Amino acid sequence: MSELKSAPSAQTWTHRWTFVLAAAGSAIGLGNLWKFPYMTGMNGGGAFVITYLFCIVIVGVPIMMAEAALGRHGRHSPINSMRELARGSDASRAWGLVGWMGALSGFLILSFYSVIAGWGIAYTVDMASGVFQGMTVEQVGASFDALTASPVKVTIWHTVFMVLTGLVIARGIHKGLENSVRVMMPALFVLLLLLLGYSIVESGHFMEGVHFLFAFNPEDLSWDAVLSALGHSFFTLSLGMGAIMAYGAYMPKKASIARTVGSVVVLDTAIALIAGLAIFPLVFANGMEPDAGPGLLFVTLTSAFANLPGGMLFGSLFFLLVCLAALSSSISMVEPVVAWMTERFNVGRTGATTAYCAVVWLFGMGSVLSFNEWSGEEYQVFGMTFFEVVDFITANITLPLGGLLIAVFAGWVIKRSYIYKELNLSNAQFNLWRALCRVIAPACVLVIFFANLLG
Ligand code: PFF
Ligand code: NA
Repeated sequence: MSELKSAPSAQTWTHRWTFVLAAAGSAIGLGNLWKFPYMTGMNGGGAFVITYLFCIVIVGVPIMMAEAALGRHGRHSPINSMRELARGSDASRAWGLVGWMGALSGFLILSFYSVIAGWGIAYTVDMASGVFQGMTVEQVGASFDALTASPVKVTIWHTVFMVLTGLVIARGIHKGLENSVRVMMPALFVLLLLLLGYSIVESGHFMEGVHFLFAFNPEDLSWDAVLSALGHSFFTLSLGMGAIMAYGAYMPKKASIARTVGSVVVLDTAIALIAGLAIFPLVFANGMEPDAGPGLLFVTLTSAFANLPGGMLFGSLFFLLVCLAALSSSISMVEPVVAWMTERFNVGRTGATTAYCAVVWLFGMGSVLSFNEWSGEEYQVFGMTFFEVVDFITANITLPLGGLLIAVFAGWVIKRSYIYKELNLSNAQFNLWRALCRVIAPACVLVIFFANLLG
């Protein structure tokens, strides 16, 4: 490994909680609060949710363990870790490509993630200034449409979010991340529980929400919905693109990967389910359609806050926390690339970050325009807007494919003894993990891919 410049391993995170916090910070974000509810709504509810949970356990957990173990063992940016670990196999360069595909996924995801997080900043500001107080659902819905219809406004907030992401990355993620996640996550959790309480007590439709989220009607389950559920399980756990591998590189040797991954997965899943349980009763109480799309979180919760005592305060705090959760996710999309750029080229963090964020920002303009200037059919491909295409390519193709290759790499390519040491499991547990990585997780991904191609 001598040809590589100083590896990030030079500094491991001293505190054993830091990896948990960083990985939870990466995992918990817009995927849980914004994307999970609206995808569930668009895919008919329970059948989608159950499939998603199945994918989390069977595919997500073993692959997350693989990523963390590979990252800790390789101790470099994902691109170089994969190359180094594959050294000696004929396909060393090819495995480096998995890192590249991950970087591409991160690039594409961040481009629209920043736009949606920008909506979140707009809502934080508008909530705090009381614009929504006393509004009806229709009015809140109209104001959401007005925001997304304005390229100028959305561009401004998209820019603000990108600059914030760049600032955190350039300063080095270790400093701010640990504390902000430690404060933010519990606060977010409490506010979500508060919203859940409101839904239970005030909506009058709580059981309808529960039923929608968990009733399994197999006839709702198209292969299309199954692919979305699989893709979302990668998206929500930040898998298949090297984010967890990059953080794993900083993980102390003593920390247990299985336990750490377990807590991250449980937290991530709990937050998504609580968000769904808070949102859907409000959807039904307000006579809205569950398949309203990307505005679902913003419209339902804003109209709840608009009519809640202290709603201005809690509402602005909630959207602020949404933005912070998005920020701790967005930095995990940039970190692998910036780590690689500083290893590979003679650039500092600031230069690498500035250049990279500028390009992502520009690409993100396509998603800004998807909700206004470019929403028309003449701008669509296969009936999808620019934003929808980018979302589809990443969540449904590059992340699962990247995850599949990582699983194969961890299960078949790298020496068994390396991974065995990293995971530090009992023999039975290790064999189960290995069977999942070698056969079961790849088979699930492949079957779902092919079923979609054929169906
Ligand atoms: N897991 C994040 C979320 O649920 O919001 C999104 C994400 C972060 C995806 C980092 C991919 C990634 F590398
Ligand atoms: Na998530």
